[in-house]
Amino acid sequence: MSSAPFPKPSSRRGLGERALAMIDALAAISADDGALTRLYLTPEHAKAAALVGDWMRSAGLSVRMDAAGTMRGALPPGRSGRSANKSLLIGSHIDTVIDAGRFDGNLGVVAGILAVEELTARGVALPFGLEILAFGDEEGVRFPVTLTSSSVAAGIFDPKALEATDEKGVSLREALIAFGGDPSRLSNEAYARPAVLGYLEVHIEQGPVLERSNEPLGVVTAIASQSRHRIRIRGEAGHAGTVPMDMRHDAVTAAAEIILAAEEVARKGKKHSLVATVGHVEVMPGASNVIPADVRFSLDVRAATDDARKAAVEEITLFARRIDKRRQVVVGVETVLEKAVATCAPRMTKAIAAGIARVQQAPPRSLMSGAGHDGQAMAQLCDFGMIFVRCRAGISHNPNEWVSVDDLGAAVEGLVATIEELARQEGEAK
Ligand code: GLV
Ligand code: MN
Ligand code: MN
Repeated sequence: MSSAPFPKPSSRRGLGERALAMIDALAAISADDGALTRLYLTPEHAKAAALVGDWMRSAGLSVRMDAAGTMRGALPPGRSGRSANKSLLIGSHIDTVIDAGRFDGNLGVVAGILAVEELTARGVALPFGLEILAFGDEEGVRFPVTLTSSSVAAGIFDPKALEATDEKGVSLREALIAFGGDPSRLSNEAYARPAVLGYLEVHIEQGPVLERSNEPLGVVTAIASQSRHRIRIRGEAGHAGTVPMDMRHDAVTAAAEIILAAEEVARKGKKHSLVATVGHVEVMPGASNVIPADVRFSLDVRAATDDARKAAVEEITLFARRIDKRRQVVVGVETVLEKAVATCAPRMTKAIAAGIARVQQAPPRSLMSGAGHDGQAMAQLCDFGMIFVRCRAGISHNPNEWVSVDDLGAAVEGLVATIEELARQEGEAK
């Protein structure tokens, strides 16, 4: 896809078609043939960042890549006023999971760029600056850390994470240098709080609520509490044909019990929106005629409150300890990531609700996000708010992820209307 400017769209459909063409162009940049996989600091990430940079420049933004690989496109304020020295940050991520859908993250970046173009086309002069951010590490797939790039922008990045390694043993520090980033400058990349008006993100809902209620857009109230854990079970290898069942120390059967217990704990916590997922399991030595000696698996736990999530993790851990005695295996539980509930700022939810109401001619539904987002990091810098966009059957992290052209157009319109509401809130409305 060329980076030449498209004709200025004037309809929802036109905006939606523009958005889809850009999302398709990004989806063509992948490490895998026939599937979308774009991990942080890879050659595919670099290509996608370059394309986003081209689009940002075409939209009139001044562009730079920061030391963490985030593309930042800035538009100075169009009018002077009491908020002329502040910028509204709008962003999302361009990394994906393995065999991903094309809208997760990418939609938010594209919507931000199209919103800038649309504001310009409509001749809106904002009283504050705008910055569009394309973050590179929301998914946390390559390294066992997540939100690296938004944490840098928010000034909460922990430099210890630079030593985290990917499956090939490459550290985050080495990958950043190879990408053209600069580990020694990460702390200089944090925004100064007084210079930021807030952070806004458009993202697909990744769940079924908006589709069920037949609404294209919704306003997010908060992002769920989340933790990730690594569980390791060490048993004893043995011959599959000779060791009697009551003399085995089978790491897989122990893991199976813990995995089912995690599911049971989560099922009991429905009122706190508790969910638990084991998405990655490794079995060693991994042969059909050898009793498994060593199993490692991931555990991801999320809930509407920090207390509910912590209580669930404690219950699963206690269960794991009991298995350890009963099956005479060694169980280790390590916490690799812990994020508290991130609450959207009333000022932002109010502007989003008013903006979306104009677009869909009805007050929008409020909903919580079970998925993680860059807003979890940005919330520690400034007020943040999110617009959710209906996606087909609520499917996400799956190549079947889909958003209709009309809903894509509505998403851009909703973002533009929200920015205008914020301008009004700042007392500078046209
Ligand atoms: C990212 O999408 C996550 O919620 O894990
Ligand atoms: Mn996402
Ligand atoms: Mn995702």
